[in-house]
Amino acid sequence: MRFTIRDAKDQIGQEVELRGWCSNVRSSGSIMFLQLRDGTGHIQGVVVKSDVPEEAWQGAKALTIESSVMVRGTVREEPRSPGGVELTVSSVEPVAVAQEYPIGKKEHGPDFLLNYRHLWLRSARQTAIMRIRDEIVYAMREFMRRHGFVLTDSPIFTPNAVEGTTDLFEVRYFDDAAYLSQSGQLYQEATSAALGRTYCFGPTFRSEKSKTRRHLTEFWMLEAEASYMDWRENIQLQEDMVKHIVGRVLENRSADLAVLDRDTEPLRKVTEGTFPRIDYGEAVRMLQEAGSDMEYGDDFGGDDETALTRMFDLPIFITRYPAKIKAFYMKPDPEDPEYALNDDLLAPEGYGEIVGGSERIADLEVLEARLKEHGLPQDVFDWYLDLRRYGSVPHSGFGLGLERTVAWICGLDHVRETIPFPRLLNRLKP
Ligand code: 4AD
Ligand code: MG
Repeated sequence: MRFTIRDAKDQIGQEVELRGWCSNVRSSGSIMFLQLRDGTGHIQGVVVKSDVPEEAWQGAKALTIESSVMVRGTVREEPRSPGGVELTVSSVEPVAVAQEYPIGKKEHGPDFLLNYRHLWLRSARQTAIMRIRDEIVYAMREFMRRHGFVLTDSPIFTPNAVEGTTDLFEVRYFDDAAYLSQSGQLYQEATSAALGRTYCFGPTFRSEKSKTRRHLTEFWMLEAEASYMDWRENIQLQEDMVKHIVGRVLENRSADLAVLDRDTEPLRKVTEGTFPRIDYGEAVRMLQEAGSDMEYGDDFGGDDETALTRMFDLPIFITRYPAKIKAFYMKPDPEDPEYALNDDLLAPEGYGEIVGGSERIADLEVLEARLKEHGLPQDVFDWYLDLRRYGSVPHSGFGLGLERTVAWICGLDHVRETIPFPRLLNRLKP
């Protein structure tokens, strides 16, 4: 049986072979303590000079930080160690002795660590975040499958904008220009008219010149779209999905949350309560009462979002924004067309927007008028207008940003740690 540190607790008393790396070495004369990792977790290996062959002792002595190594030993119960187990080592075979490791125990700044992102990823903290990210993605896909959504990925090379024209990355496409996708939504509107309920999950690009803790220039988004689904059902679906995701992380990744010192109580609350739905106008009033200088009609700034979410224990939906400040495709509220039938979901504890959704305009003429108002070219959207010409139906959808969701669930203060290789305003390397 292949040994993994993750399952070491089930192999107490057994002789095992660990294939991994040595993340640290400490020696006290005749005993060496090896901090070992294999990608699934960390375990301490204890080498006692008098108990092992000379070759094993020499092997252990040769190890430097991040040397790769194969270690044999017996798994022992050790209540004082974090995983509850330890390895009593009998043989040590270095695979490749590492040069002096650039990441030390002293505090490094974020820029230094990002320059060494390819190595920084090996730390206990970063591997915990990556496992939680994986769990979230798995849970999202599981939720989509259970609710009848079919994966129909949208293209990344696109001829037009979805979310406004100011933050598009333009690339050369043979003799033409193309844009990296800002959102796969418009294509999901086409596939959902074919399959009923669809989603895409992939990288999304925005050349926003924002240097905030919430912005990446390349981020991953899950976008769901459903025919015959109205605005309210759409909001309920988002709530159910977020609860499912948080529930799965609590269920399967508690050890990783512990590595991050994440307080799980606020997360547990999320799986139990009903998320408040707050009208845009009401949210503006609440902020103004709390001293914000935000004006009615403005979009919320990052600080406003933070302030709003701190007023609640649960994620909150802000609904019915002024149509003027939102995307062209959002359906106007029939009761007051100045407002859009949309929602933003703000994560608690100051995290802010993680989901944006709306009912879409199903009427051809209304949509044509909106394209004009937004100064968007009719010809590149002709195929999109076809969806209103041929069997248009009421439909809604949403986009959930993966990295902001990971940052919130992990309790991180910046999205740069939520993705293996972050792309930021001033960072394209490594
Ligand atoms: O609110 P957004 O712009 O919505 C859309 O793109 C819609 N077309 C989605 C849809 O209805 N199909 O983006 C959705 C989410 C945000 O709530 C946020 O979580 C994330 O995508 N997001 C970003 N994440 C990291 N960095 C950025 N620059 C982001 N911009 C948006
Ligand atoms: Mg948004």
